[in-house]
Amino acid sequence: MDTLVSTDISLAAQFLERGEIVAIPTETVYGLAANALNPSAIAKVFEAKNRPLFDPLIVHIGNKSQLTVYAKNISSKAQQLAEAFWPGPITLVLQRHLIIPDLATSGLETVGLRMPKHNTALQLLSQIDFPLAAPSANPFGYISPTTSRHVYDQLKGKIPMVLDGGPCEVGVESTIVQCDGEKVTVLRLGGVTVEEIERAVGPVSIQLSAASNPSAPGMFTSHYAPRKPLYIGKVEELISTHSDRNFAILSFHKKFDAAESCILSPSKNLNEAAQNLFGMMRELDAGGAEIILAEYLPEEGLGRAINDRLMRAASK
Ligand code: TXA
Ligand code: MG
Repeated sequence: MDTLVSTDISLAAQFLERGEIVAIPTETVYGLAANALNPSAIAKVFEAKNRPLFDPLIVHIGNKSQLTVYAKNISSKAQQLAEAFWPGPITLVLQRHLIIPDLATSGLETVGLRMPKHNTALQLLSQIDFPLAAPSANPFGYISPTTSRHVYDQLKGKIPMVLDGGPCEVGVESTIVQCDGEKVTVLRLGGVTVEEIERAVGPVSIQLSAASNPSAPGMFTSHYAPRKPLYIGKVEELISTHSDRNFAILSFHKKFDAAESCILSPSKNLNEAAQNLFGMMRELDAGGAEIILAEYLPEEGLGRAINDRLMRAASK
């Protein structure tokens, strides 16, 4: 199959209407989208990604009013979160209406819904009359794509089209929040920070899950991983532990002495660091070093989501 990379939104809509899958831009990472109401289209997503069927997909909507079409028993806190952060990088896990097929939710009684903050994605959603089920557009377990090129390099030949919407502005995936009555639980750290969520709805609990957590079956400990071994910590300590290896360094803001190195944000800006994270991990994975030494970031705001991704990348 030829894979077209194009900015043609109507063409993407046509593929999706025919039950084909298309990689689409969002503000977080690129997604691999299918008609969320069409099980045979959804099945193609699992196949192209090599994704286990027990890992549920996020369903993307183009309009806040669709919340009640696909979910039920929506608590006031869930409403407040949608009002405060949609369109934006937060996914709400809610009780599903049965119009959402089992395959999208891996048979769970809940569905993860989100309205992306990306003009191309929102225009696409306005041209079709169904929501889009879309996991990140990477082979299962590998680093998520933040440019159309990343997607093309890994999925060419497997999908008909990559809709190009430029580089992703947020750079890490959405925050996943389970809204069970008035209880709010963060299941995955992401583009909306815990601090921002607590400012909107008060204290929340955080339950970052591993494979053993049935409420988020897809949250594997090892994920977002480069092919090379990656170690996370304080750079000076990592260098002295691994001095006999050929290492590359991924640091927050300082330049360290290594043949290959990337700096996430010279001005210590966590937004910029998140934007650069996955692209720089890919770059170092493709380079000549044997291992990657990654600096642990300040555990605040987006730094927590970045550290979470680095820890999962490190746990192979
Ligand atoms: O930013 C994002 O969220 C990106 C873009 C494309 O929207 N999508 C994304 O999808 O990161 P994915 O499939 O790579 O990660 C979604 C995770 C799944 O691994 C699963 O653990 C969780 O969301 N999830 C989905 N539905 C769920 C549900 N009903 N209950 C609990 N967790 C759910
Ligand atoms: Mg993913």
